[in-house]
Amino acid sequence: MQIFFTVREHLSESTPCIYLLGENFDNLPSTFSDTFPVSSLVNYFENEYTPTTIFLDNQVVFAVPYLAPVQENYVHKEKMRNQGHLVAQLIKTHSFNKLQVFADAILSKESLLCFLEGLNLGSYSYEKKGNSEDYFRDTLQVEVVFSSETETIEQEELEKLTTLCDAVWLTRDLVNEPPNFKKPALYGQKIEEFGKEAGFETEIWNKERIETEKMGGLLGVSQASGQDAIFAKLTYSPKDATNDTPIVLVGKGVTFDIGGANLKTSMPALEIMKSDMGGSASVIGLIYALAKNNIPLYVVGLLPITDNSISNKGLVPGDVITMRSGATVEITNTDGEGRLIMADALDYAKELAPELVIDLATLTGSAVRAVGEEGAVFMGNTDEILKRALEKSGRETYERLVEFPLWGEYKDYLKSDVADIKNVSGGFAGAITAGKFLEHFVDFDWIHMDIAAPAYLMKASSYRGKSGTGTGVRLLYHFLIEQFS
Ligand code: BES
Ligand code: ZN
Ligand code: ZN
Repeated sequence: MQIFFTVREHLSESTPCIYLLGENFDNLPSTFSDTFPVSSLVNYFENEYTPTTIFLDNQVVFAVPYLAPVQENYVHKEKMRNQGHLVAQLIKTHSFNKLQVFADAILSKESLLCFLEGLNLGSYSYEKKGNSEDYFRDTLQVEVVFSSETETIEQEELEKLTTLCDAVWLTRDLVNEPPNFKKPALYGQKIEEFGKEAGFETEIWNKERIETEKMGGLLGVSQASGQDAIFAKLTYSPKDATNDTPIVLVGKGVTFDIGGANLKTSMPALEIMKSDMGGSASVIGLIYALAKNNIPLYVVGLLPITDNSISNKGLVPGDVITMRSGATVEITNTDGEGRLIMADALDYAKELAPELVIDLATLTGSAVRAVGEEGAVFMGNTDEILKRALEKSGRETYERLVEFPLWGEYKDYLKSDVADIKNVSGGFAGAITAGKFLEHFVDFDWIHMDIAAPAYLMKASSYRGKSGTGTGVRLLYHFLIEQFS
């Protein structure tokens, strides 16, 4: 079921309706209060703050209790998204193709948009069975009646929200896709299709081109595989862009991480490694949303895509490889593959004279252990103002972030006797040393996001759902618009 939002002036009396109730039930439309005993609703919501279904004579109604604002506005916004998610679960038991939402004057537009976002994202499910190309989803049109006396809601705003949610769905679909249906070449084709649909340019480099670029990290990781690596470059360069040099987004695209010679042995780690391309999927979703919503930002996506397989052709611990930058790397652990392919992409980004580079990667189990599924870890060399702004976007979208340090001493952890640097230090501070490795390859303003934990969930969590979540799409959409457009 795919949801799209439109504006509606007045309520219809028969279309199923979601009522976002006011504090004192004072906004109930007459159709509702005439037929339904309000007192029982009052009683119900006294103990229970979750939405409920009410069957009127000729209308199904989903009543959503009023939630008082709290001190921290972003917490309130998240509660509204969660309410939206709960209503999405109630709707799932029906088969509507049209629904209305009635929000009264007490609710701010911001709260309403969060509710709608939770409703949309909470409706997601990956229902595809096998690689069925004819797969399509039913659509649900949600008409929004916003009766505020102080604020209005425009059709355009709702369309933009729909597109942003679509982008999250797209990202989730890519992550949830079985690994044998997203091998590098096929993944590249999907990227080209998204580019055509949303209006951004795509270049898919094959192995020969990657060799010409001397991307030793990407080639090294992919050499164990029967599938050639690809490198995807996505360019969205609108005429009215506010920036002259691009904001570059780099995404880890490991379509399956078996660990290589350092084979992954622990479950469930191996089981979920189809999600190791989550960073690249989020970059695709993000650029899709920016392009489709005509956001005036010049953005380039760089996606190194390969699997990390095991075979007698693969890297082994002790090997030394030469990266695109010319730096030599001692491979101490083949499961630290993400940083190798990311480093080559970061090095290529130098040629674009970027205004800012943000990379997203499901990079380390260490980040998972540090903050769990509640947030992502980030590091970077940008000024404090930008970092705090990123954290704020994290709160506003509830894709929260914690900063880890890139202190100089950590550099020593990666010292090698046989190369300029080694890929894995072992021991403590695994998320940081991975960031430190990447730092070796940057000479521009840069933020690194380790999304290993929140990108893929083992069990469902509200509107984020189960499995692929689309982490990073809403966060960076918000951040880039706030800071650069
Ligand atoms: N893809 C993994 C990181 C990961 C772990 C993502 C759990 C999602 C959930 C990465 O390539 C990896 O294997 N990292 C190793 C690094 C180690 C060899 C230093 C890890 O974290 O165990
Ligand atoms: Zn790995
Ligand atoms: Zn990996």
